[in-house]
Order: sequence, then C-alpha cells, then structure tokens
Amino acid sequence: MRRKLIAGNWKMNCMKENGLALASAVFQKCQQNAPLPFDVLVCPPMSLLAKVAELPHTGAAIGAQDVAETTKAEGAFTGDISADMVVDLGATYTLVGHSERRTMHHETDAVVRQKAENAMKAGLTTVICIGETLEERETGRALDVVAAQIRGSVPTSATADKCVIAYEPVWAIGTGKVPTNHDVAEMHAKIREELTHLLGAEVANEMRVLYGGSVKPSNAKELLSINHVDGALIGGASLKAEDFWAIAETQM
Ligand code: 13P
Repeated sequence: MRRKLIAGNWKMNCMKENGLALASAVFQKCQQNAPLPFDVLVCPPMSLLAKVAELPHTGAAIGAQDVAETTKAEGAFTGDISADMVVDLGATYTLVGHSERRTMHHETDAVVRQKAENAMKAGLTTVICIGETLEERETGRALDVVAAQIRGSVPTSATADKCVIAYEPVWAIGTGKVPTNHDVAEMHAKIREELTHLLGAEVANEMRVLYGGSVKPSNAKELLSINHVDGALIGGASLKAEDFWAIAETQM
C-alpha cells in the first residue's frame, strides 16, 4: 500500500519571517489533524532549512530542494551544500532534478542520478523529478522522454522507502495548465512500467509517483484519485498554508 505524499516546494521564495510563519501554520495543521493518513513534506529554500527544522513538526517532514553533485560531505565546492549537510540541518528528504535545475543549471540525467545517489547514501528520502517540455508533448515524444529520464536519473540502488518519483510536465509548472486525466494516467502507468524494468516489480510497486504542475485546491482531489498518482508536488499553492492544507485535506 503506497501512502500518499503531499509535498510543498517553496522554490526561491520566503524571507525569514514569512517562511517561519508559513511553516508554523502548516505544522500546526498537521498536529491538529494527527495522526494523518498521508505524509506531508515541506521543502523551504536552503536559507531557512535549519530554522524550519527547529520548529516542532510532528507529522511533517522537512526537505531540501537540491544537494551537491560531489560525493564528498565537505570540501572545496563553493556555494554547494552536500547531502550530509542537509541531514545535519535536520532534513530527512530532498528534491533532485527539478526541471528548473535541469534547464537553468543544465543538469543532465547523469548529474541528477549522482545527486540522488549522494542523497540516498546520506539517508535522505529523495524525490527525483522528471517531465517533458511542451514541444516534446506536442510532438508525441512525452512518454519516451520521461522513460529515458527514468533510466538516466534513477539509481538502480533506489529503494521504495528512500526514493520517490515526481512527474512534473514542464509546461504545467506555474502555468495553470494541467494534463488531461487520461494523459496523467497514461504517463504514471508508463513510469511504473519503466521503474519495473529498472528496479523490479516489488520495488516499483511500492515506490510513490507524485504528480506536480499547477496542483490547486480545486483540482487536487481529481488528480490524486488517478491510478498510480501517489501524491502531489506543489509549487505556488504551497506558499499559502490554507491552500496547501486544502490540497492535503482532500486526502483525509
Ligand atoms: P506549481 O505548483 O507552481 O505549478 O509548481 C510545481 C512545481 O514545480 C513543484 O515542484
């Protein structure tokens, strides 16, 4: 049985005051509604990770948005933060391979896979993000592109408890556009099939596959009821505690 995961990716948002207020409001909801029938994850920017992790957060996990590519825990890598450092700050999850990093920072599948390996080795549950561009969707290549991203980005050592996949069509991120239910179902089934080839049926059947891209309180229930959709990775709507919680509440 795959327990749903409701995850917020704050991206490069929130100064200290706002961020701590947002995190506190989300954690309070988790506490008030404990025990929750799903997992909650909050991924603040690195600048706030330690402070957010210091807040009481029973029922919610805290994650980074990225980790360094180097396998070293410490060293001469200016500006980088290693997976071990993320653990040291109190996080238990990280995202890797978000499309914003793949495009703006030119991260390849190989880089994403290395980051995922480092994160899992450090003990972090690692959310590996994949998804096609609009051009790839419109030219009928979405399934193939995403299958190749899985083969290239997911370490063969990945286990279901330490690895989560997030399917985020690039064209659905921050645009208000979402794929049809049919397209989401087709893609998530394809992802499960590729994971089965790569990791075996047992691991693939237990691994959670999230959907991300313009998830809102108004569409969350429907998206999260689609077969093989095991949770949501939420950007914009995770910046308002009421909206984030309204999405989570659809799974109560
Ligand atoms: P939006 O929910 O703002 O579309 O962002 C999705 C996303 O990129 C989460 O990682």
